[in-house]
Amino acid sequence: TGHFTYDPGFTSTGACESKITYIDGDKGVLLYRGYPIEQLTLDGDYLETCYLLLYGELPTKAQKQQFDRHITRHTMIHEQMTRFFQGYRRDAHPMAVMVGTVGALSAFYHDSIDISDPHQRMIASHRMIAKMPTIAAMAYKYSIGQPFIFPKNDLDYAANFLHMCFAVPAEEYKVNPILARAMDRIFTLHADHEQNASTSTVRLAGSSGANPFACIAAGIACLWGPAHGGANEAALNMLAEIGTVDRIPEYIARAKDKNDPFRLMGFGHRVYKNYDPRAKIMQQTCHEVLQTLGIKDDPLLDVAVELERIALSDEYFIEKKLYPNIDFYSGITLKAMGFPTSMFTVLFAVARTVGWIAQWKEMVEDPSQKIGRPRQLYIGAPQRDYVSLDKRG
Ligand code: CMC
Repeated sequence: TGHFTYDPGFTSTGACESKITYIDGDKGVLLYRGYPIEQLTLDGDYLETCYLLLYGELPTKAQKQQFDRHITRHTMIHEQMTRFFQGYRRDAHPMAVMVGTVGALSAFYHDSIDISDPHQRMIASHRMIAKMPTIAAMAYKYSIGQPFIFPKNDLDYAANFLHMCFAVPAEEYKVNPILARAMDRIFTLHADHEQNASTSTVRLAGSSGANPFACIAAGIACLWGPAHGGANEAALNMLAEIGTVDRIPEYIARAKDKNDPFRLMGFGHRVYKNYDPRAKIMQQTCHEVLQTLGIKDDPLLDVAVELERIALSDEYFIEKKLYPNIDFYSGITLKAMGFPTSMFTVLFAVARTVGWIAQWKEMVEDPSQKIGRPRQLYIGAPQRDYVSLDKRG
């Protein structure tokens, strides 16, 4: 009943009002609460951005201190949660582990969350931001058969995460501050991106009043796909497959061929029809990380730079306004930092958690909020009569 517009992929449907993130896709602008992504990433830190996304304003010094303390107080996960990991096969994809373990948090914090209470919403939000790196690092350690490393709360958010991933018991591990800074930047770049598929999933799941941890697990599931968060993994695999600069034209030709499903991974975006502003910072961070690690000639980087150069001067990509997106350079950077490709999307999930929660919180606090319920164009059989099994031959 009633009139509705058929809009597959929601390319022209605005499903909510939001004060969180602004994107001008034609100009390549991304603002969090009005602040340009470049300034937040290069001059601020990730937890500051988290506070900004959640509460609308940059924190004062005292607020920042208190927020950082709240987050570090919640980094531990219940010891019983560690048993969840043991249930997975060793070769399970860490995103599968993330979907399951984050979903399981909803069992640990179900009765205690009354989402109509702002204080409880705040605690749940802080818990999720704090625990996500711990769970992600555990998923990684489990996959390589190493013991879990406890959070070390005198380290900042990104450094603590690197420590949980790369430290081993009984061995001294010092986090390289430049790499920690790069990690922090990567987190900030991924923190929110308005109504993308996973965020819309979180909003849709949350619109029924579901447990927020379960809603975040739904977001993680959606993020996993190669057209979304899985693109960083796919982009790196593609660069490795191309392998050498001389093979680029062959892949460019395939990407342009209508009969070939191949696409240049890390290229193109639903909203950006200009250079993705995050990709510029990512490219810069990539060079810094490689320099810090003393990697002079990374063949993957050579392929990436040349591929970008050729694509940006090719008519097909110009005409379709296809530019590198954030995933194009993030894979090379993360690989150089020591992460296996299977962890790339996990890192994206850690970083995006704050965006999901900020959007969930905004939705819950919006008095005009209704349960999300798209309509459809039914194209199936018209009404017909049931035929009993013995008459169906
Ligand atoms: N390589 C070659 N051709 C492409 C590409 C590409 N990467 N991306 C889009 N096109 C073409 C596509 O074939 C289509 O051509 P035509 O109009 O002749 O049919 C046209 O450009 C428009 O593409 P679309 O699929 O209709 O656009 P969309 O807005 O539905 O898709 C996208 C956006 C990001 C899914 C797509 O560009 C893509 O698949 N890119 C590769 C995967 C990727 O890098 N994803 C990461 C996105 S950014 C981070 C994130 O969101 O997680």
